[in-house]
Amino acid sequence: MSKFYINGNRRLKGSVNISSAKNAVLPILVSTILTDSVSTINGSPMLEDVFVLCEVLRSLSAEVNIDRDNNKIDINTKNLKYEGIDNDLVRKMRASFLVIGAMVARFGKAKISLPGGCKIGSRPIDLHLKGLKALGATIKEEHGYVEVVAEQLEGNTVYLDFPSVGATENLMMAATLAKGDTFIENAAKEPEIVDLANFLNKMGAKIQGAGSGKICITGVKRLEGVSYTPIFDRIEAGTFIIAAPITKSKITIEGVDEEHLKSVIVKLREMGVKIDVFGNKIVVDGDVELKPTDIMTMPHPGFPTDMQSQMMTLLSITPGRSSVTETIFENRFMQVAELRRMGANINVNGRIATIEGVKELTGAEVVAPDLRAGAGLVLAGLCAKGETIVDHIYHIDRGYVTIEDKLNALGAEITRI
Ligand code: UD1
Repeated sequence: MSKFYINGNRRLKGSVNISSAKNAVLPILVSTILTDSVSTINGSPMLEDVFVLCEVLRSLSAEVNIDRDNNKIDINTKNLKYEGIDNDLVRKMRASFLVIGAMVARFGKAKISLPGGCKIGSRPIDLHLKGLKALGATIKEEHGYVEVVAEQLEGNTVYLDFPSVGATENLMMAATLAKGDTFIENAAKEPEIVDLANFLNKMGAKIQGAGSGKICITGVKRLEGVSYTPIFDRIEAGTFIIAAPITKSKITIEGVDEEHLKSVIVKLREMGVKIDVFGNKIVVDGDVELKPTDIMTMPHPGFPTDMQSQMMTLLSITPGRSSVTETIFENRFMQVAELRRMGANINVNGRIATIEGVKELTGAEVVAPDLRAGAGLVLAGLCAKGETIVDHIYHIDRGYVTIEDKLNALGAEITRI
């Protein structure tokens, strides 16, 4: 199993380019199921999660051509078949559950493995199923599978009890080919939802209101394959932004949409970090006196749960008392035990972590418990005194394109072994 060896306590300088958003590309790939022609994703990040989803599409007989050199993926769904979906892959990656809405819209039925829980929380799918039921589907759950049947989905109003990103995406895709109008109320507002709506509209769908709490989808008869470039990865960008104050450095990050990262930028400015925005380029000066703060994760436009662990690393070396409240996932403090091994002073009480800033972190052997917690530990390694070894980095590879190369180009010293 690969590990990162990080020689910490080095200043960074220079500029880094942000890749396209994994969380935008995954639902976009799924939505190619809705057409029977060729779609092209330009600038796709070449990441393990993307490859897994391409395999899921291949198991449905899609022709998928991945051009790694040019970050391009062509998907031909002309000969797509209902049978054959690789349920081992579906179980492996939760995001593949998104295929259920698109499959029932295209084939009138779908049967796939129920996703398991995952380390960060139980992550139920009740809202996805509630929505499909409202669109007229019948749903049967047995023997670890869920079967959804609807000869023709019919538009309806769906109220989501929580603005779930996955449920909003699943329903938006299903409703594009439904008969009549669908309204998703209390919809998720994440930028990736807007990107998916833009992709679907380019295919010929009629979606209005994406990015607000109420999305209206007027069903159409047919969607066409298109060529599309997804948005920048706001979480990768946020991770690099935090790398600057963590290492007391000034760096430039290219490929950031300020609107998508407002909550993170505002918080960092409150802490004293200097951030200048020039279009899609951000210059972050982290060589400043940091002030403690309190953050609470919220659905967009609140502070993103996917940035929580990276922020916690920064708060660990910020003088004074800070707090982090996690409201989205019930078990997302798995980095805490690892950070403590590096000298951090963090106490967890339920969903609230209280952090007393320490003068410095010290290198230790730690394990990446999941994707974003792993990123937080890499950041910890960057500022720690001595050597940090981060194990189980396959988690980090799911969401960051060669993070060590990008950080090393900025002057970090990370070796993958
Ligand atoms: C997506 C992102 C993930 C991010 C999360 C929250 C992708 C591939 N993943 O995950 O990186 O951390 O949004 O921003 O885009 N819930 C229910 N019932 C449901 C669905 C969700 O109770 O049917 C709950 C979940 O358990 C969780 C909360 O809603 O507590 C948020 O989940 P959701 O927004 O659905 O996250 P994902 O789409 O899984």
